[in-house]
Amino acid sequence: MIPTTGDTAATWLHTERFAGTSATERRTAEQRLHHIRDCVLDGARIIPTDHVVDLGAGTGLLTLAALTRVGPHGYVTAVDQSGPALRSIRPSPGGGTLRCVVADAAKLPIPDATAHAVVTRSVLIYLEDLAGTIREAARILKPGGRLSVFEPLNNRRHHDAELTGITAAEIQAINAAAAQATPAARTMTAFDAHVLIGHAADAGFQVHPITTDIVTTTMYTPDAVDTHLNRRPHPGAPTPLETVITALGEPFARRYRQAWHDAVERKPITYTTPVLYLTATARTH
Ligand SMILES: C[S@@+](CC[C@H](N)C(=O)[O-])C[C@H]1O[C@@H](n2cnc3c(N)ncnc32)[C@H](O)[C@@H]1O
Repeated sequence: MIPTTGDTAATWLHTERFAGTSATERRTAEQRLHHIRDCVLDGARIIPTDHVVDLGAGTGLLTLAALTRVGPHGYVTAVDQSGPALRSIRPSPGGGTLRCVVADAAKLPIPDATAHAVVTRSVLIYLEDLAGTIREAARILKPGGRLSVFEPLNNRRHHDAELTGITAAEIQAINAAAAQATPAARTMTAFDAHVLIGHAADAGFQVHPITTDIVTTTMYTPDAVDTHLNRRPHPGAPTPLETVITALGEPFARRYRQAWHDAVERKPITYTTPVLYLTATARTH
């Protein structure tokens, strides 16, 4: 049994992030995650025997593949503030050694200059202390070690639904409620590529040109819309419909949901999320 009780990150990663999706939608989402995982690990240039640190490892998306890459004489330190998430990681035989560390990414109980690579996916956007976390990555990396990061720029995420009858003021009220809903909503708004590059440069990294990409997801049916409106976008967050109820009440939420249904009946609705990959090299002197 997966130990998720009382832990928002573990619960979201195990049961909420794909809640309500069809088998096809889930397969597409998992394929996309695997592509991102492979890009992050390629960016870290991991070789057998390496020590890799996965910051905010969650249930082990990067960790499990990194264990295969470092081989039986390497090891991976999976760091997360969620013990239940880390305890659910199940490595396959034949790979490296797994060490799980429950810690804040900005205060790593890992000695200086002991990691060949630090990797992270979809974690930095949530951090209160982004600068401190990047400094910790620099501290634990050996000279010439690699930092490899993927983050979605959720503050620039948008959709093309034409919501007939919903006013700009109502959309503004919903967006304001979403921005207040969780601490993560605030850190996501503050996060962008320039902030991250600045912190990496300040920590002494040589930052390589960043790669950006666009991730799109398209909804074709009212069922898909309902799944979207009732799924938590990130750990501990209210669902979009809960946010709408908070902002403007239940009667409005019924009208809002109907507007989404009408929109998807007229044409598919696409969400577009800009994302970034950053790699950087730790100072060599
Ligand atoms: C969206 S999940 C991503 C998990 C994993 N990296 C993946 O790609 O599946 C974000 C993870 O970051 C962890 N996290 C958030 N803030 C953290 C912090 N300050 N220190 C350590 N881990 C943190 C959460 O517990 C959660 O497991």
